[in-house]
Amino acid sequence: MAKIEQKNTLLMTFAIEQRNFKEAGEASSKLKNRLIQLGFPGTLIRRVAIATYEAEMNLVIHSKGGTIEAEIKPGVVKILVVDVGPGIIDLNKAMKTGFSTAPEHVREMGFGAGMGLPNMRSCASEFAITSELGTGTTIKMVIS
Ligand SMILES: Nc1ncnc2c1ncn2[C@@H]1O[C@H](COP(=O)(O)OP(=O)(O)OP(=O)(O)O)[C@@H](O)[C@H]1O
Ligand SMILES: [Mg+2]
Repeated sequence: MAKIEQKNTLLMTFAIEQRNFKEAGEASSKLKNRLIQLGFPGTLIRRVAIATYEAEMNLVIHSKGGTIEAEIKPGVVKILVVDVGPGIIDLNKAMKTGFSTAPEHVREMGFGAGMGLPNMRSCASEFAITSELGTGTTIKMVIS
């Protein structure tokens, strides 16, 4: 995790490994704690924490790994999620509540309700997702 502080801007970057369930959730938890330290309102922190946690779990469960970058400014958090594949075949389907390709062993851990992407969209003030098969998926969220 790297932190670069400019005037009124704090950047936090997290590398997320595929299938690393042991450390899954740490990035969103660190970001949440930092926002608490910085005195952000609880409602905003909760939205950032949920959106980032869902993004982090999707990188662990569905991707080949990637990064989550948070740009923190007074009153606004921008989150950039980039992974290195495999990409999403049908984005419209993936965005629908209840759609999931999570395998059985992942469902047994309590994931795979098909709620992550819809949750991210509803937590974010601005939400954009792009995906290319073989290349990867990128999600941009602004939470203010
Ligand atoms: N980063 C990703 N790379 C590849 N596929 C993804 C990625 N994120 C999501 N998907 C696909 O989109 C589907 C829906 O994702 P979503 O987060 O909404 O649900 P889920 O992860 O399956 O279940 P839940 O988030 O409720 O545990 C996934 O099942 C998967 O097929
Ligand atoms: Mg998910």
